[in-house]
Amino acid sequence: MKEQRRQSVVLVPYPFQGHVTPMLQLGSILHSQGFSVIVAHTEYNAPNYSNHPEFIFHSMVDRLQGIDISFLTLENIYDMNENCKDPLRNYLVKMLEEEEEENVRGDQLSCIIYDNVMFFVDDVVTQLRLLSIVLRTFSAAYLNSMLTILQQPEKYLPFEDSQLLDPLPELHPLRFKDVPFPVIDNDVPEPLREFCRAMSNIGSSVASIWNTMQDLENSMLLHLQEHYKVPFFPIGPFHKMAPLSSSTSILEEDRSCIEWLDKQAPNSVLYVSLGSLVRIDDKELIETAWGLANSEQPFLWVIRPGSVSGFQWAEALPDGFAKMVGERGRIVKWAPQKQVLAHPAVAGFFTHCGWNSILESILEEVPMICRPLLADQFVNARYLSQIYKVGLELEVIERTVIEKTVRKLMLSEEGKDLKRRVVEMKQNIVAGMQTDGSSQKNLNDLVDFISSLPSRRSLPTPVVGAIVNSNHIPSKCIIES
Ligand code: UDX
Repeated sequence: MKEQRRQSVVLVPYPFQGHVTPMLQLGSILHSQGFSVIVAHTEYNAPNYSNHPEFIFHSMVDRLQGIDISFLTLENIYDMNENCKDPLRNYLVKMLEEEEEENVRGDQLSCIIYDNVMFFVDDVVTQLRLLSIVLRTFSAAYLNSMLTILQQPEKYLPFEDSQLLDPLPELHPLRFKDVPFPVIDNDVPEPLREFCRAMSNIGSSVASIWNTMQDLENSMLLHLQEHYKVPFFPIGPFHKMAPLSSSTSILEEDRSCIEWLDKQAPNSVLYVSLGSLVRIDDKELIETAWGLANSEQPFLWVIRPGSVSGFQWAEALPDGFAKMVGERGRIVKWAPQKQVLAHPAVAGFFTHCGWNSILESILEEVPMICRPLLADQFVNARYLSQIYKVGLELEVIERTVIEKTVRKLMLSEEGKDLKRRVVEMKQNIVAGMQTDGSSQKNLNDLVDFISSLPSRRSLPTPVVGAIVNSNHIPSKCIIES
């Protein structure tokens, strides 16, 4: 884009690590394409401004002080959505007024890009007659499974214990035990269904951006696009498409683990991390500890403070564990994960299967042990183990099973097959990032799409949709009244 056509986008991230990171990466991608990027964020988990001098930040008063929002409840999420409405609206109104008076820098607001959990944005943009685009931070396979179940809940819910290993109709390779919702007594309570409907809804948005790859999830994306009827822009993997090199970490990274990795043999270490959100009980911590110890493989284990229910940190680790593993094991509170996975000493990743972690692992050619605990992680784990065949599923959390699975990943022929396939998978994804690859082409189309969005002033209300061309990539956005 030429300087005089500089347009701005306002990004609204959901303030948790697995969502903030891809939103900032998207901001970096758009900034590198000439857009001016404004990040409107909650006070809770505010990004570190000094790491991102290229962005303009606006802090929204979220009125969440004193609430332990790290303990995710529907109430907390709805409060955040409600409380941020006025601050975002007021900010945008001020921005539009300033634009009217004097457009000093020549920037013009093009659209608001929001994380799908921040669904309040739809109300604000509809009121102000602005255009919005939804960011999906997870896989198309996950949204497809969630949507399919929400559309015909009686076909799937509630289920019996005896059905847990039965296939979910029309959702191969998922089983009832992989239902990607928080399940209580083999059912999904109505308030949780309602929340998932709100999150999957696209509102008045004119497009959707995905941190996934068209070559990997083409049929799923096409299927979803038929439902949503707006252009899709799968431009992943964001962490490799973005020029961003500074940290997006909310917690402080313990970089001493890199020095420890430097001392390990190439391809010898298992990296263990269950991401930024999930909690396990002390029984699981203990079984994991003995499984790792008995596997006799070197490991780097992230135990996030507060991630073991009822404990501050790792106090529940069993007596004798530290002595048994000695220098062979290293435990940290938070790691620079991308550098860890890129380190030549790392051979495998014991993961909760968060979508960011998966993409980071595949792009560093690291096969996985899958221990899903929440929402999309069940779908991701099944795809990794059954479809892409780059991961081993850990179905039973028991020390002997963990030991056996770790040894299988790190030492067996099956482990070598997983490694070969993850290398292939990475190569295919990298091909999509080249000039003629799908992610790069979709990014070019996204830039054209945002650049050609109509000005809010000429925008009739309501916005009902956009037209896509035969390649499912927008040629232009048509707004009808
Ligand atoms: C959850 C979901 O499971 C995920 O699929 C969804 O899209 C976002 O919310 P989370 O637990 O945050 O995700 O996992 P993940 O998506 O893997 O993101 C975690 C991020 O934290 C990764 O980018 C990872 O590199 C980073 N991380 C993790 C660190 O930087 N250091 C660590 O020690 C652990």
